[in-house]
Amino acid sequence: MPESELVRFENEGGIGVITVDNPPVNALSPGVPQGITAAIDKGNADPAVKAMVLIGAGRSFIAGADIRQFGRGPATPPPARRHYDVSDQSPKPIVAAIHGYALGGGLETALACHYRVAVPSAKVGLPEVQIGILPGAGGTQRLPRLVGPKVALEMITSGRHVPAAEAQRLGIIDEIVPEGQLKEAAIAFARKVADKRPLPVIREHDEKLAEAKSDPGMFDAFRKSIARRARNQRAPYACIEAVEAAVKLPFDEGIAVERRLFEEQVNSEEAKALRYAFFAEREAQKLPDLPRDIQLRPTDTAAVVGAGTMGGGIAMSFADYGYSVKITDSTKEALERGMQRIRANYETSVKRGSLSAEEMEQRLARIEPVTDYDALGDCDLVIEAVFEQIPVKQEVWKKIDAAMKPGALLFSNTSGINIDIMANETKRPEDVAGTHFFAPANVMKLFEVVKGTKSAPDVIATAMALGRKIGKVSALAGNTDGFVANRSRGPFSVEMNLLVEEGALPEQIDKVMVDFGYPVGPFVVSDISGLDIGYDVRQRRKAENSNYRGAPIADRIVEAGRLGQKTGKGWYRYEPGDRTPHPDPEVARIIKETVAELSIAQHDFTDEEILKRLLFASVNEACKILDEGKALRASDVDVMWLYGFGFPRYRGGLMFWADTIGVREVYNQIAAWHQRYGERWAPSPLLRRLAESGAPLREAKTDRLR
Ligand code: CAA
Repeated sequence: MPESELVRFENEGGIGVITVDNPPVNALSPGVPQGITAAIDKGNADPAVKAMVLIGAGRSFIAGADIRQFGRGPATPPPARRHYDVSDQSPKPIVAAIHGYALGGGLETALACHYRVAVPSAKVGLPEVQIGILPGAGGTQRLPRLVGPKVALEMITSGRHVPAAEAQRLGIIDEIVPEGQLKEAAIAFARKVADKRPLPVIREHDEKLAEAKSDPGMFDAFRKSIARRARNQRAPYACIEAVEAAVKLPFDEGIAVERRLFEEQVNSEEAKALRYAFFAEREAQKLPDLPRDIQLRPTDTAAVVGAGTMGGGIAMSFADYGYSVKITDSTKEALERGMQRIRANYETSVKRGSLSAEEMEQRLARIEPVTDYDALGDCDLVIEAVFEQIPVKQEVWKKIDAAMKPGALLFSNTSGINIDIMANETKRPEDVAGTHFFAPANVMKLFEVVKGTKSAPDVIATAMALGRKIGKVSALAGNTDGFVANRSRGPFSVEMNLLVEEGALPEQIDKVMVDFGYPVGPFVVSDISGLDIGYDVRQRRKAENSNYRGAPIADRIVEAGRLGQKTGKGWYRYEPGDRTPHPDPEVARIIKETVAELSIAQHDFTDEEILKRLLFASVNEACKILDEGKALRASDVDVMWLYGFGFPRYRGGLMFWADTIGVREVYNQIAAWHQRYGERWAPSPLLRRLAESGAPLREAKTDRLR
């Protein structure tokens, strides 16, 4: 687009209105910064213009630099006249008028203006750290001068979006103006300040930096405070270094430090992985085989059947986002217990300080327990979350079909039962789909939508949108055993158990995965979830299939009464009231005895072997899923691992990470293990084809689910 179309300039009664118009989010794509510079020059050259307003067309102010331009070769040097400098050196005042988002380069643009006004719904922030970089357009130098280094450090290293009211309190926004009247209000503000001098230019004010000068240990203390969450990452530290430069160096030298750090960071593996994750998440929302203008069904009122841990968490997910939700269970007692659990969960948040008591009551008031299915009938959607047994489900689904109004969306939260079994219990299988939440349902962000054989396109599209409405990240899965997330995770669990049989200890395996970047190791996760669930599944499988190998050590652990954290011991032992896992000699003994009985030879494992055994097993399975057409894109698998299993985001995702090793190497290793360990490592045909062509795993995709 020519610059003139990306940025417009109009003189509105002596106020030059500069409008950035680069849909969808007014990113600073090539042409936009130049357009802003040209517009400011124009305003300054025109004696009829007294002041200027910088505003965004469409839904946002400016969402930052154009991320798609990053990583395409060496970073382009900034233009000789950056619009930020042209702006804050403008002799006429410039007012940034903010709605939607002012993020990254967008907020940096606003900080280079003399004043900032915003509507109440606007949000501002410097989220660069979330894509593995640091603010590269003066944000690390201007923000500390405006709000003080402490607040700036918190904002820049977290990247959080700050709501307008808070931004005003912090001094980032000068005035909040009425919603829907941004332009008029900003023009009025500009008139008010048109003759005021000197102009407030952030770079010229060092007063707020004093707080760090009197507290020189502040930066090291901050580094320490983020060490856990910033593990294996460089960007958060680059952010701190840049803010430190703001305090220690004159403005222009600080800018040079920021620029150097930005250039070091923008092509790093960390930044590439995080950019990939950003786009993978957005790509997952696109359903290629659906018409773009598909009409969605209403989702204003929700119902949940089953008030157990999952059902309660699902009801909370709705209530948390302002939805009215009805919940039922088979007995009054079960329903009451469920409601008590929901209240207890909210009370924990209130105790922790993450929720106010008032907000808790409001959320609870949105959850209405009802004792019969007919009371659910007028809801737009229902989510079934009852016990995972086919006969139980079948009975419940008949009742759901009988109760729900025509056109209602009928969803199941099953994690493993074929969706078609439920759909076939109804007279309207086209209205049925899976919506698989991950435990704890009100916390984990993955919302796996499962397409049954007969699910109608508008049902799938509405389910995907519904996930986003309750703050989740939706991703589509085909109807295969375990769907996509759990099926691709399955072989990881198998290998975990086998590694223990072969000589690795749970604590070694957990350490490898935590060092890799998981928040906690897989054995600790099992202890948190409870070991009895897996045990029951294995017993059922054994009964169904005499060749099923199972997990003998895990079975012995459960049979010794070690069910995980809830019994104070599982793969680890726990002190009363404390969740710190301690390696337990008793577990080592159970392992030793079981292995001796089964005559399994043990040996030492390197950390690398452990990591690859676990993750390559899942990469291979994900390839099988893709080959069978049960997932649309390899990047969807990555989104599921990021949001369902806590895979470290700065490694992109399972498939992205495998590409960093190289598809040929992954294939060769899997083929070697196939020879050594047998069928479970048989390489997926897709993986073999990719290894032959050298095409990246992360780009594997199919046009439609089969
Ligand atoms: N660059 C390029 N494309 C962007 C973009 C950006 N900064 N921000 C959003 N988009 C694209 C998205 O990819 C998406 O494209 P598709 O429709 O093709 O998928 C489209 O804009 C709409 O985005 P969302 O679906 O995310 O819309 P939303 O309303 O849910 O969220 C948002 C809007 C909060 C702005 C979100 O898009 C977002 O967080 N964007 C990134 C913001 C960011 O990180 N800015 C900093 C950039 S780095 C920088 O600025 C460096 C510097 O210092 C100069």
